[in-house]
Amino acid sequence: MIVCVCKSVSDRTIRASIAEGMDSFDELQFELGVATCCGKCEESVRDVMSQSGVCASRCGVTHAHPVAVPAVQPLMFYERKAA
Ligand code: FES
Repeated sequence: MIVCVCKSVSDRTIRASIAEGMDSFDELQFELGVATCCGKCEESVRDVMSQSGVCASRCGVTHAHPVAVPAVQPLMFYERKAA
């Protein structure tokens, strides 16, 4: 399926580029030209990146990869420092 109509870039091309080591939106944009013309394909490109397992922090998609938040232990009264 064509993801970027302006540059005729398919999802297969994007996946192949990711498999070859491109792991950021900026790299895909630079190498393939996606989202450099009208820009309407940016979200679709980021979706393909997310589906390909590219880290959310690199692709800008934050909903696809839940981040484990360490549990914060409340300080006990004797661990608090006086201000
Ligand atoms: S559809 Fe990708 S830049 Fe226009």
